[in-house]
Amino acid sequence: TSGLPMKKVHMHGNNKTDEELKMCLDYEIGSIVIDNEEEIGRLSKICKEKNKKVKVMMRINIGIDAHTHEYIKTSKHSSKFGESIFDDRITEIIEKIVKDENMEFLGFHCHIGSQIFDTKAFHEGIESMVKETKKISEALGIYIPEINLGGGFGVYYTEKDTAIDVEQFMKSMIEHLERSLEAEKMKLEKVSIEPGRSIVANAGSTLYTVGGTKTTYGGVKYIFIDGGMTDNIRPALYQAEYEAIVANKANETAEDVVTIAGKCCESGDLIIKNGKLANAETGDLILVATTGAYGYSMSNNYNKAPRPAVVFVKDRKSALSIKKESFEDLVRNDVLIDL
Ligand SMILES: Cc1ncc(COP(=O)(O)O)c(C=O)c1O
Repeated sequence: TSGLPMKKVHMHGNNKTDEELKMCLDYEIGSIVIDNEEEIGRLSKICKEKNKKVKVMMRINIGIDAHTHEYIKTSKHSSKFGESIFDDRITEIIEKIVKDENMEFLGFHCHIGSQIFDTKAFHEGIESMVKETKKISEALGIYIPEINLGGGFGVYYTEKDTAIDVEQFMKSMIEHLERSLEAEKMKLEKVSIEPGRSIVANAGSTLYTVGGTKTTYGGVKYIFIDGGMTDNIRPALYQAEYEAIVANKANETAEDVVTIAGKCCESGDLIIKNGKLANAETGDLILVATTGAYGYSMSNNYNKAPRPAVVFVKDRKSALSIKKESFEDLVRNDVLIDL
């Protein structure tokens, strides 16, 4: 195993399988964030079978309309994640957890979306979480010790983004939280956040080799690279934007307007559409920045393309962290059959 203390792990997911839930209990992880009412019953049954008690939180939708892309908004009324606080049955749902002798209810979790720059949305989220915690704890006559406010702190991808200064912003989050708790005359034992990309996004870049270029009849200049949606699905999935340079021509001015395209059989397999780049030619290296989050972890074998390697770099030293996939890797699980 990784050696990470399992007590520090919590488990998310809108569709956790029984096998996954059993694994959580076997590893005795810190807590499970329950997504929906159905999951309560399944988890309860598994706890009984294993004669284990588990700490749980409940993921709730607080209805905050964060200004971000539709696919990365997660807290609207019909989100696939969590139960809505506007649902009349929400107290009843929490009561099921509280009454279950195999579960210890820690509190509520929310994640209002990703790449959020509007700090007001986070403040509204805090107020809503505090109010909801108070409402349910009074209705059920219980103390709720914890809230988890999720992540979503916007980072710099392109010059359109003014990244949230997380260190500064945390101070204002804490002040806001303390004011909300005071207003509601409440105390919590623990408040957590899940700062995903704001920790790692800017730490990573992807290097591609230019395989060829083409200017279309319609006037688009394509730069073809040896990767694409297989190592970075975000532009194809929700038009995420990136910046790039020609790494071996880093001092040249970026005057060409180009579209950087991958090699999959999809016209949408683009990394950058109409971005500015120095004159890129076959054999040049393209560096796409801010790929430290949701790059390798979301990489895939679309068109049976092998995944690239991951190299860590520090103080001019480098170390191979993940080997690139071979064609043998791609067929490792294939079974030769003769029906
Ligand atoms: C439950 C939950 N928490 C935290 C995050 C982290 O979000 P981000 O990396 O945008 O900060 C995600 C991302 O999908 C998430 O689903």
